[in-house]
Amino acid sequence: MNLKESIQSKKLPEHIAIIMDGNGRWAKQKGRLRAFGHENGAKSVKRTVETCTELGIKHLTLYAFSTENWNRPKLEVQTLMRLLVSSLKKEIKTLQDNNIKLAAIGNLKLLPKKVFNELNEVMDQTKFNSRMTLTLALSYGSREEILNTVKEISIKVKNNIISPDDIGESIINEHLYTQNLPDVDLLIRTSGEQRISNFLLWQIAYAELFFTKVLWPDFTKEHLYEAIMEYQKRERRFGKTSEQLN
Ligand code: FPP
Repeated sequence: MNLKESIQSKKLPEHIAIIMDGNGRWAKQKGRLRAFGHENGAKSVKRTVETCTELGIKHLTLYAFSTENWNRPKLEVQTLMRLLVSSLKKEIKTLQDNNIKLAAIGNLKLLPKKVFNELNEVMDQTKFNSRMTLTLALSYGSREEILNTVKEISIKVKNNIISPDDIGESIINEHLYTQNLPDVDLLIRTSGEQRISNFLLWQIAYAELFFTKVLWPDFTKEHLYEAIMEYQKRERRFGKTSEQLN
């Protein structure tokens, strides 16, 4: 049995989320500009989407641009936005051919008009695809998402649409950007940093965390297999004992 088959014969994570880190350092190591790192990061995105689709992963969420990333030099922000538009234009056909739905989470109103429009166009064209959902976190911050949720629920309580007694996990889930997604099963971060950096704080409550030193542009199919194999070795107890699980 090859690696891919042995992974698929065990329980797959339904939802993988990735903090794609290390583009800048990868470029620096090569004496190149950061933009070169991001361009190669985009190639890694393509590879990872292909691998997840082949394996049968249902949801892949990528941290492409955080609320904090707006503070980067203007030129770098422009480069990332341009790369996003060109990748969307280039990959729409691949998404369609592979039955992949594109979704986005974050404060999308802050995106430049061109990016916002292109993104909406691709999301609209792929909205009925069902093999896998690829969600891009753009202008995303988890605390902001939770704050918005609290505000929206408070307004509904104030207007007697819901009662405080109704507020439970499901009401909160329904108000998050990720309302259509299941909880994250496996969170991967590349580049050796072991932080969550304001990504999906509510949604990773029971996720398995996998940190690798590999820089994002170097992240290959085999690295993803390794992360999934590690996930499959772990015992997810959700607060129960091993005996209860057996
Ligand atoms: C982290 O590397 C990466 C980002 C901030 C952006 C991620 C963007 C891409 C992978 C490119 C295109 C994305 C799509 C969806 C087509 P870093 O710049 O923080 O690296 P460093 O920590 O080494 O400086």
